[in-house]
Amino acid sequence: MPAASRGEPALTWEVQDGIAVVVLDCQGQPVNTISRAVKDEFRACFETLANDASVQAVAFFSGKAENFIAGADIEEFVTLTSAAEAERLSADGQDMLEQVARLPKPVAAGIHGACLGGGFEFALACQYRVATDHPKTQIGLPEIQLGILPGAGGCQRLPRLVGARAALDMILAGKAERAAKAFRLGMVDELVPPAILRDVTLAAARRLAGGWRPKRRRQGGFVGWLLDGNPLGRRLVFRAARKQLDQRTGGHYPAPFAALETVEYGLRHGIAEGLRREAQLFGQLAVTDVSRKLVQIFFATNQLKKDPGVPNAPAPVTVKRLGIVGSGFMGSGIAGTAVAQAGVDVRMKDADLARVANGLFASRAILDDRLKRRRITKYEHARLVALLSGGDTYAGFGRAELVIEAVFEDIAVKQQVLREIESAITETSVFASNTSTIPITSIAEAAQAPERVIGMHFFSPVAKMPLLEVIPGARTAPGVVSTAVAFGRRLGKTVIVVKDSPGFWVNRILAPYANEIGHLLAEGASIETIDGMAVRFGFPVGPVTLLDEVGLDVAEKVAHVMLAAYGDRLQPTAGVAALVKAGRLGRKSGRGFYIYKGGKKRGVDPDAYELLGVHPNGGPRPAEILQRLVLGILNEAARAVGEGVVRSPRDGDIGAIFGFGFPPFRGGPLRHADDLGAARLVADLERLAERLGPRFAPCEVLQDLARRDAKFYP
Ligand code: 3HC
Repeated sequence: MPAASRGEPALTWEVQDGIAVVVLDCQGQPVNTISRAVKDEFRACFETLANDASVQAVAFFSGKAENFIAGADIEEFVTLTSAAEAERLSADGQDMLEQVARLPKPVAAGIHGACLGGGFEFALACQYRVATDHPKTQIGLPEIQLGILPGAGGCQRLPRLVGARAALDMILAGKAERAAKAFRLGMVDELVPPAILRDVTLAAARRLAGGWRPKRRRQGGFVGWLLDGNPLGRRLVFRAARKQLDQRTGGHYPAPFAALETVEYGLRHGIAEGLRREAQLFGQLAVTDVSRKLVQIFFATNQLKKDPGVPNAPAPVTVKRLGIVGSGFMGSGIAGTAVAQAGVDVRMKDADLARVANGLFASRAILDDRLKRRRITKYEHARLVALLSGGDTYAGFGRAELVIEAVFEDIAVKQQVLREIESAITETSVFASNTSTIPITSIAEAAQAPERVIGMHFFSPVAKMPLLEVIPGARTAPGVVSTAVAFGRRLGKTVIVVKDSPGFWVNRILAPYANEIGHLLAEGASIETIDGMAVRFGFPVGPVTLLDEVGLDVAEKVAHVMLAAYGDRLQPTAGVAALVKAGRLGRKSGRGFYIYKGGKKRGVDPDAYELLGVHPNGGPRPAEILQRLVLGILNEAARAVGEGVVRSPRDGDIGAIFGFGFPPFRGGPLRHADDLGAARLVADLERLAERLGPRFAPCEVLQDLARRDAKFYP
């Protein structure tokens, strides 16, 4: 056993029948991470094992109940000040893993729980990998999501193990795979139930010690060999991957390109040269602004995961049964997601049985999709489908801890539903409205128990969109807030708690962005240019496409609520209303600004210009188009922060990134405002206001920051 040097050691081991059983358990931490101190322990441990004649092989496990190794310690990245320092950090990790790979005794890793980044790179340096088939066992190299690349040999060892194509898929997407898929891809050698992980890993270590070597077959047969197994085929693979990256990243994210280069370089020049290049590029990436922003987002979302939503919040009620009123697109989306993610019993209600049947069918489609993607087994699918039921009465609602209404966006209708539900549920049940615009306090005026009424604003499509806005009304009880927040999290959502004001956070800051489309079109800009500039800025889609996706009828309704609440500043132009009048509702009706056929966007509809009464003839300069679109968001976001619509700039930025795809590498609208500087923003907005009208007048919050030379994030 090693002596405890600084506090409790993370690595401990004992030798049983010639097998050293090594356990990593970073004391006082929820997950195992590889910090500088842990690296030192690894070195000392493996040196001792190398020299211990009684040790013939090593079996490695985690001491954490549900985590193997979460990777290198991301906290250390924040402290890096130069590319050279970051390169050294990467090279140190590589050296440590080379020591593992070159140990004259075989090492088998028994993997249960998240095995990510440097954790998987460690497993790759071992001779054999056994993983549990438990859902918590996620394996992958997510470094790209942090703006860096796998810098502890992952770009070298993974392609050699599974082939260049599969390795690039993993590394460039930066996603973690469930153990079954990792096994299929050859990333792990054996898949076992958790109960026998230890025994199977020990047995493998013993076999390895006896000279047995696992036989691994290249994936993909002859085609696999053609593409992965020879330089010519690989060149094609890299060319195709590079092309895909160009399209996907818009040139904003350097990490995937660097990872691609590293993998290619390593395969061409050998592992030693590959490692050198890997460390070099890791060093450069780790100190980029993009990586800093992505790391900030990682920590912000982690903080949000633990935030109960209100100070001193009472413990949330665990929702086991959920009632949903309204079986349309949103209602069925919430129902399907709730069953798929949280396994709750869902009872759906609508005015007639035909609608309920359609809603249940749509909810089930979410489960079918998971089955198709092999996220759930057939057995799980059957079990979850059985949790969905519905009817045209409130039967079954009496047992629901939470009821969510997703009916027509009209206060009278919502209040009517609220009255009906209050007589059908128990005194402790929570009533949540999935409104996108109507103040919760107004809806709650119809309630006998307004303290049990809250807003849960889901985004469409519910199964895919990661954000949930939770909106307490003026009288909502704190325990109701924590229940809604906790339930949203069980659905896999990132939850922000926002103030009960028109448009809440996301629709509020989107309003000027959407309205500006009309002004730009009227001045002769084309739809393609407007969307193209936003995409070039880093949005996943432009604002015109976004409106088509949201639905033009929905957008029109939101625009009117915003106008009524905030006045001329958020005055919409007539365009969207004209399209709605002509029956164009966006993607869902096959026509909006664009034409849609067979579920695909088929280009701008030339008739749209006619209906809007505008003619594309150049319009403002592209740079001005972008400035007007973005500064509108930044100005409104700053104003809303001043009004306390979000609890912190952190929530505001996360809401914008997860709610409508504000470019993550810019850190969110408030971080972006900080980067531009309040003084510059105020000056730019003043110039725009002078020329285009008071909608661009800089808000008081920005003016104040400019005067004090201050920032949202001090
Ligand atoms: N470094 C530092 N802290 C980490 C960490 C890491 N790699 N992974 C998790 N943590 C911290 C979280 O910040 C959180 O801290 P807190 O309690 O103080 O807020 C705590 O561990 C628990 O994490 P979660 O709340 O996220 O726990 P979950 O159970 O929900 O998820 C997880 C666990 C799946 C491991 C998730 O934390 C995760 O995805 N972690 C990041 C994985 C990752 O990106 N790894 C790559 C690191 S970079 C690398 O390895 C570079 C190498 O190639 C050189």
